[in-house]
Amino acid sequence: MTEQKATNVHWHEGDITREHRNELLGQRGATLWFTGLSGSGKSTVAVAIEGVLHEAGRLCYRLDGDNVRLGINRNLGFSAEDRAENIRRIGEVAKLFVDTGVITLSSFVSPYRADRDQVRALHAEAGMDFIEIFVDVPLEVAESRDPKGLYKKARAGEIKNFTGIDDPYEAPEKPEIVLNSAEMSLEEEVNVVLAALRERGILPA
Ligand code: ADX
Repeated sequence: MTEQKATNVHWHEGDITREHRNELLGQRGATLWFTGLSGSGKSTVAVAIEGVLHEAGRLCYRLDGDNVRLGINRNLGFSAEDRAENIRRIGEVAKLFVDTGVITLSSFVSPYRADRDQVRALHAEAGMDFIEIFVDVPLEVAESRDPKGLYKKARAGEIKNFTGIDDPYEAPEKPEIVLNSAEMSLEEEVNVVLAALRERGILPA
């Protein structure tokens, strides 16, 4: 748990609640948390789901590792501490979006179970849906795709602490959904996620 630094700060309740916002939007928010190796297909499937949900009139927002690291998290690298802080901040940002009523699609390697579980707990405490989606492909598959050429660099020793090469990836033990982009089509993956959203009442049945 990150230490609370500021003292004498108190939560200030407003008059407009999450329920009011949900009513205004005609939907409720949720976090879809995609985790997996670089090149596993997290962002690809998140983009596809976002497209379908948007077409269906649902307000969504995508938080993506590379994008967030160019902005709010530009001061973070890839040490275990920095990755933990990266995920902690994204967890808080996702929670704010869900509180707004937005369906939030977060795609981060998020290699440490404890960091992901903290985000899960944050959502649970606030009564929010957190759906962990493990995009599970063998390292060989992710490495053979190597869309950004980073595995090649990591193998050559040009990138240190690269997840899957010389840094760990801790697979989720009980993810809500497992997608294997080496065996499933993108359409199948999207359908599995949409079915889970219907099951939870986030999308109409
Ligand atoms: S996380 O581990 O903190 O969750 P995040 O998802 O934000 O990582 O960023 C991962 C992306 O950064 C990868 O898809 C890859 O493009 C790039 N990257 C650069 N260096 C590394 C590294 N050492 N390990 C993993 N990804 C890296």
